[in-house]
Amino acid sequence: MSTSTANTTCAAATLLIVFVFTITAFQTTRGAEAVTTPMGSSQDITYATRLWSAMHSEKLVGAKAEKLKPFFGGARPHGIILELVYRNLTVGNHSGFLVVKKNYNGTDVSVANVERNRAKYLSSITVMYRREKGYDEDNQNWFWVKYRPDGSLFKKDMNGKTIALAGRILKGKTRDENAGCIYCHSSARAGDYVFYPEIRVPPVND
Ligand code: HEC
Repeated sequence: MSTSTANTTCAAATLLIVFVFTITAFQTTRGAEAVTTPMGSSQDITYATRLWSAMHSEKLVGAKAEKLKPFFGGARPHGIILELVYRNLTVGNHSGFLVVKKNYNGTDVSVANVERNRAKYLSSITVMYRREKGYDEDNQNWFWVKYRPDGSLFKKDMNGKTIALAGRILKGKTRDENAGCIYCHSSARAGDYVFYPEIRVPPVND
């Protein structure tokens, strides 16, 4: 082999390696993008923050929230004493149906004690919000969130990662993946993911 042929072969090989590397890198990036995280993505967290602000302005959550009527719930995994509010809410340019559940817990929790000092017993605020069409068609476009009383998000350790509880919780095919809001609420009798029969979810979903 002459030197020039060797050089040409070498250059061609280098080019080929660079080409293969670029394609692989491109496909890896594409692959990563194609995998949709069912919950806790940055979009989910941003949306949960916007939803909190909208609920806050409407005095549904936060220190100035209107006082609701606490009642004894007791069903797992939610609180023992609960408060419930449901209505339409506008977030950005979307108006959707909202269900807010305040969960009160504590050793001496009771309806009377909660009425006396809500802040002391409020442990979490679980929210379902009907989002725009296409958000999660398999599950009637519900957006699920579990907030702390200050509006920050509860987190869960999964597969070595800490994931915020906001979004499609927990859309998945295996039993483990399914042990979340969607899975449990899909057994609600009316078929709209809502357990309380007095909550009528409007069919319209823009
Ligand atoms: C193991 C089953 C189960 C899981 C998991 C679960 N829920 Fe519930 N949820 C219930 C039951 C039962 C009720 C009705 C009784 C009550 O309020 O405790 C309920 C009620 C609610 C309500 C009031 C509306 C309704 O359905 O009547 C909201 C809002 C809610 N849950 C949100 C959530 C969110 C958000 C999650 C996930 C972070 C979640 N739930 C996880 C069982 C579950």
